[in-house]
Amino acid sequence: MTDRGEINPVLNQEEDASYEASIRPSHLDDFVGQPKVKKILKMMLKAARMRGEHCDHILFAGPPGLGKTTLAYIMAKERGVNLHTTSGPVLERKGDLAGLLSGLEEHDVLFIDEIHRLNPIIEESLYPAMEDFEFDIVIGEGPHARSIKLQLPKFTLVGATTRAGLLTAPMQARFGYVARMRYYDSDDLTHIVLRSAGILGVSMDRSGALEVARRSRGTPRIANRLLRRVRDFALVEDVDVINKEVSAEALELLEIDQVGFDYMDRLYLTTLTQKFDGGPVGISTLSAAIGEDRDTLEEVYEPYLLQEGFIQRTPRGRIATRRAYQHLGLLVPGGSIPDDQGSLV
Ligand SMILES: Nc1ncnc2c1ncn2[C@@H]1O[C@H](COP(=O)(O)OP(=O)(O)O)[C@@H](O)[C@H]1O
Ligand SMILES: [Mg+2]
Repeated sequence: MTDRGEINPVLNQEEDASYEASIRPSHLDDFVGQPKVKKILKMMLKAARMRGEHCDHILFAGPPGLGKTTLAYIMAKERGVNLHTTSGPVLERKGDLAGLLSGLEEHDVLFIDEIHRLNPIIEESLYPAMEDFEFDIVIGEGPHARSIKLQLPKFTLVGATTRAGLLTAPMQARFGYVARMRYYDSDDLTHIVLRSAGILGVSMDRSGALEVARRSRGTPRIANRLLRRVRDFALVEDVDVINKEVSAEALELLEIDQVGFDYMDRLYLTTLTQKFDGGPVGISTLSAAIGEDRDTLEEVYEPYLLQEGFIQRTPRGRIATRRAYQHLGLLVPGGSIPDDQGSLV
């Protein structure tokens, strides 16, 4: 527990990026959980190697923090090729894309994060690049302008999206494999926390890791972030080995509750149950009442609340389930409140 970063405030400021880099797995075997996705990626990598070809294009879809970027890095690393990264909103002009594509070498990985936010013109010009490894560029202007075809090396496009539903059908169809990332169970998250603790030299027992895991909303990024705060707590409180009690105390201090909800999750649920009588209420209205961006609610907060059965999405809007009332310690109102299985009671 004598990490220089904790003691030296200057080093501490840089901790974020280096922390991330030090604990991000760089091989498939270190990537915990998601067994189905891992199996398919392994097979695709092996087949590509055996054929001596590029790997087919892959799309990773799922909520933030589940390992999409990590897997893109791993794909390049395992294949022993260069990784080129960019993101949907950054690629504004066709020239930006041309620049990126012309820098590719045979079998390289081009990673486009937030691919659902590509501008439609760029997206369309990606189609022939993905399918035939060709890219049309226009040279000159006005009547003298002419289009020439650029032949590209065989590369692998890896896309990541938090909103697969917003990706156009033609784009989706051009991926050889769409990997849907799931929230992690507490076993996998415990494993991740223990692995990170090991790398960081934090002494923590299994019960301490499980407590962090249980409060991480099924998300490795959150688990690692909470681990960092628990580590701070243990340092300041002069704890030798972090166990369940220490983790719990540290996380209570941060107002992360038993199921891992933070301030915003609770604000969402109290607004829905108190201000709107449990719904149904439209997402725009809800977002205005909470004072949080609609996209953030839909991408970051709702997927977990939905999966865990705290809310339901209906054609008329969001509704709170019985589980939401119980979690908030509120009396479940009479009438038909759906339980967490989605049936009416
Ligand atoms: N399966 C996993 N095993 C171990 N660590 C993981 C795993 N998935 C994600 N992480 C860690 O969680 C953090 C967030 O992952 P990232 O790939 O950036 O998520 P995303 O791109 O889906 O938002 C990274 O620091 C990474 O080290
Ligand atoms: Mg990412």
